[in-house]
Amino acid sequence: MKNNTRAIFNSRIGAILATAGSAVGLGNIWRFPYTLGENGGAAFLLIYILCVIILGLPVMLSEFYIGHKTHSNATGAFKLLAPKSNWSLIGYNGILATCFIFGFYSVIAGWTLEYFTHSMVGGFEGKSPLELQIYFNNFSSSIFRPLLWTSVFIFITHLIVVSGVKRGVEKAAKILMPLLFVILIMMSIQSLSLENASKGLLFLFKPDFSKITATVVLNAMGQAFFSLSVGICCLATFASYFDNQTNLQQSALQVTMIDTLVALLAGIIIFPAVFSFGIAPTTGPKLVFITIPQVLIQLPFGNIWAFIFFLLLALAALTSTISLLEVPTVYIQEEFHTSRRTASRIASLFIWVLGILCTLSFNVLADIKLFDLTFFELLDFATAKLMLPLGGLFICLFMNKHVKKEDLRAIMTNHGNTVFYFFNTFVFFVRWVAPILIILVFLNQFGLI
Ligand code: PHE
Repeated sequence: MKNNTRAIFNSRIGAILATAGSAVGLGNIWRFPYTLGENGGAAFLLIYILCVIILGLPVMLSEFYIGHKTHSNATGAFKLLAPKSNWSLIGYNGILATCFIFGFYSVIAGWTLEYFTHSMVGGFEGKSPLELQIYFNNFSSSIFRPLLWTSVFIFITHLIVVSGVKRGVEKAAKILMPLLFVILIMMSIQSLSLENASKGLLFLFKPDFSKITATVVLNAMGQAFFSLSVGICCLATFASYFDNQTNLQQSALQVTMIDTLVALLAGIIIFPAVFSFGIAPTTGPKLVFITIPQVLIQLPFGNIWAFIFFLLLALAALTSTISLLEVPTVYIQEEFHTSRRTASRIASLFIWVLGILCTLSFNVLADIKLFDLTFFELLDFATAKLMLPLGGLFICLFMNKHVKKEDLRAIMTNHGNTVFYFFNTFVFFVRWVAPILIILVFLNQFGLI
């Protein structure tokens, strides 16, 4: 539909891996376990998986359509598909949300760098569970090191984004994904052999339906959108780089499965350890950082495993932050005709300011709260629980109002070259089921139904 001097992913597998690289990150390994822990365990998991299938997957496919059809940025895509309308607000919401997410995400990504360097010098060797907790508390309440790591992470992401999508994203994802899988499987075997592993598994897989409340449903929906990277045009931006041979339905299905599998593996690693080491499942954001080192240092050559794990986690976070920074960068670049470097600099500077405020909200700014939330918590809440699901809702409404079924079929089947077996079901879900359910979840949360 538009010019193409833009980058195109080199191969089909590159496109899938890069999208999976965006989806798989701290959301799966850090946010999923602690959110599940705070929201009652298996009942949350059940609703989470339903949200992934019923809401996340249709929105992901819609974003693929929007990006692939237009080969344009988050706002440009809507301007091309629905000229002179307000639908490009979906894109603006997305651009702002990617900056907000990167702001708080960079803090946790910074923590992974701290843990990575600490294991590199053998720092976790012979430490007791109590010592590991103290180490975390000392680190997160100090000012300088967390700030340094947050900044380093944003800077590295900026450098990669400037060097271009193809070279940066595709390569990193190709090497990283398979490695991450191997180490996660190894760690789950280790975790399952712990003394109280079965208690952890029951917590993760045996639902207690009385735990399901309106808030649990909203949290599960938010986590599903966050983990799949959907609702904020991040995947639409990525899909604008897919070549014409890319099989969109297959990619969406594969990315969704990989993403869910990684989250499940993270749960299988964390909860047996949580119950074996007597840690509360409701510990919150630090949960993973105090449990994982305990699992790893029990292995022979524990420090080396910790080193590999935190390196991979940092890289998984990096492939997600690259996709986050890509959205505002390509928007500024295309809409304001700047160089890629300038665009990425402007976006990174804004994100850096947010990152600094989020980092300090664990110490000096801890008492400064809005709606009873610290700055870090506020950005997490505003994005995962509002901007992503609302973005998803409006994407569905846009598909309902503006996209012709036959055109959608043509893009989804590569102009008739592939078969989309459940096409009508997909259209029904995008046009009706997903938007109605998202509205119901919001009404329910605000006590209106
Ligand atoms: N899905 C990423 C993760 O789970 C986070 C992310 C959200 C990335 C939204 C891009 C857009 O870590």
